[in-house]
Amino acid sequence: MNIFESYANYYEMIYQDKDYKAECDFLESIFSEYFSNSVRGILDLGCGTGGHALTLVERGYKVAGVDLSRKMLEIGKRKAKKSKLNIKFIEGDIRNIELNQKFDVVISMFAVMSYQVANQDLISAFKTAWKHLKKSGLFIFDAWFGPAVLTQKPSDRFKIIEKNNERIIRFATSVLDILNHTVDVKYKIIKFSKDKVLDEVDEVHRVRFLFPQEIELICDMTGFEILELCPFMELGKIATEKDWNVTGILRKA
Ligand SMILES: C[S@@+](CC[C@H](N)C(=O)[O-])C[C@H]1O[C@@H](n2cnc3c(N)ncnc32)[C@H](O)[C@@H]1O
Repeated sequence: MNIFESYANYYEMIYQDKDYKAECDFLESIFSEYFSNSVRGILDLGCGTGGHALTLVERGYKVAGVDLSRKMLEIGKRKAKKSKLNIKFIEGDIRNIELNQKFDVVISMFAVMSYQVANQDLISAFKTAWKHLKKSGLFIFDAWFGPAVLTQKPSDRFKIIEKNNERIIRFATSVLDILNHTVDVKYKIIKFSKDKVLDEVDEVHRVRFLFPQEIELICDMTGFEILELCPFMELGKIATEKDWNVTGILRKA
């Protein structure tokens, strides 16, 4: 089963504070810095419930989003319909999808690349980005950054979210696999109404952390030039072991 099926029911609530507008400001600052013409078409690989896609369409871009999880896409489609926004949501695997269409920019945000755990998965996802880009188009992604993960180490966390009469508690415990560059994040989500448990979901998300040299190697293999590896939301800075999330800004060579 796809990991984002049960989790999808709670995604919007868990990440209700995620600032997609600020993230789209960040994306637009990258467009101004590195894309000489004005950006029109954007492909969102691993678009989820459309947080970036919806905001970008509101700002006048034409956006298509691909995701493996039907549940995540259904939520995205519902939101788009409610806001009368036109987005093409496509169910598919970013490791092999072929849309026969080229875009100015491909984005893949919120660690989607980290979900491509095996070398071949990552290479295939990069190739998908490459083949859907016009000449000199940009591929922008963020991922867990290896130097930071090994320096800081993942910790166990919990989050309580309350809305109306419902309360959700999400526990996240992590198992680090240094040799395979992965962390298994074990999520337990419990939904309560007052003291009554309404639902319980367990999912393990295997996430890969990436190192600068391997990003460079994959870029060499798939035809990308690295413009920046900056900390997430901090264009112009160099990502270091202090930055858990790195943003890769690549140009189709
Ligand atoms: C953490 S969510 C991020 C969603 C969205 N980009 C956002 O910022 O809210 C990761 C998403 O990547 C999708 N995903 C992971 N691997 C995928 C693959 N190989 N093909 C398509 N979608 C994938 C999951 O289904 C999930 O919706």
